[in-house]
Amino acid sequence: MAQHKTILRALAGETLPTPPIWMMRQAGRYLPEYKATRAQAGDFLSLCYNPELAAEVTLQPIRRYGFDAAILFADILLLPQALGADLWFVTGEGPRLSTITSADDLAKLKPVDAIHDTLNPVYETVKILAQELPKETTLIGFAGAPWTVATYMIAGQGTPDQGPAHALKAENRPVFEEIINRITEGTIAYLSKQIDAGAEVVKLFDSWAGSLEGDDFTTFSVKPMQQIIAALKERHPGIPVIAFPRGAGTRYTGMHAATGADCVAIDDGVSAEWAAAHVQIDGCVQGNLKSSHMVTGGDALVSETRRICKAFSNGPHIFNLGHGITPDADPANVQLMIDTVRAG
Ligand code: CP3
Repeated sequence: MAQHKTILRALAGETLPTPPIWMMRQAGRYLPEYKATRAQAGDFLSLCYNPELAAEVTLQPIRRYGFDAAILFADILLLPQALGADLWFVTGEGPRLSTITSADDLAKLKPVDAIHDTLNPVYETVKILAQELPKETTLIGFAGAPWTVATYMIAGQGTPDQGPAHALKAENRPVFEEIINRITEGTIAYLSKQIDAGAEVVKLFDSWAGSLEGDDFTTFSVKPMQQIIAALKERHPGIPVIAFPRGAGTRYTGMHAATGADCVAIDDGVSAEWAAAHVQIDGCVQGNLKSSHMVTGGDALVSETRRICKAFSNGPHIFNLGHGITPDADPANVQLMIDTVRAG
């Protein structure tokens, strides 16, 4: 049967006259309906673990804008929690976790098989979405890539330079490597269950890949993503994977082959013209528009959107931002971006 979902066509390598579109953090605090449902849930984690409400917030941007893909509403830090880390969110500041920095801490973590006890509500959300999404909308599941998840597990919070993770890597390599391995295994199990539940694509967020230097970039960003993708492809042939090594810069070159990803997501640190010449030559790309345009709007939003579409027009392309939309964005600017992309 011919494939009608435009995201899946782009991921299969097709060049489409109009790129399909979705947006990182499309369910989020810039939308009043998201804030209302989050208030109803009580707090962010209660929302993540409430399948009905998590499905509702996933659907909100689809109803409002008709994006071509929906991304499961959850968080990359649910996996560390399922592995046994304490996790909570401090309003206005962000996530906090109990830290894992020694062999003793590692020994206290749960076995990978046990993660599903905690993560079952997430798979329930996926099942609801697989039923409720419009037939043309693709459902994307996701997880954090091991390095990014490790930076939070080691520091116990977000850090500007991922200092604690770099320090553990230098001071206790065996423990650091075991943390990466444990997350890698957990991520394979987690994404596999999301796919079983109905995710049609999965994405790996390596938000802090950019701070890995030299061989560390290959060893701790590229290689774990490659292992996860190889394992998923073996278990679920035909499920496309998007890899997002944020901050990779010129190291975006060759990323399709190095990771095995069907699509490489590009942040706003490189130009679309450069990415077309060096990354899109190997397959589908996604991303690149600066999130700040969703705050400022206007002519700059329109001209940048057109420039990115033009730069990527000769190959497979999914339109997206270079990183997540921020809470101060204007929902009208999102509509302007979509209208600009679809006007061609
Ligand atoms: O994109 C989507 O709409 C799907 C849901 C999604 C969320 N987080 C919801 C969320 C996804 C894909 C993520 C990924 C995620 N989570 C990443 C990787 C992508 C990136 O942004 O680089 C990271 C690093 C996290 C960890 C995390 N979660 C942080 C650092 C924070 C706090 C920062 C902030 O924006 O407040 C979160 C919270 C979070 N995750 C929110 C949302 C909608 C905001 C929470 C709220 O409603 O208060």
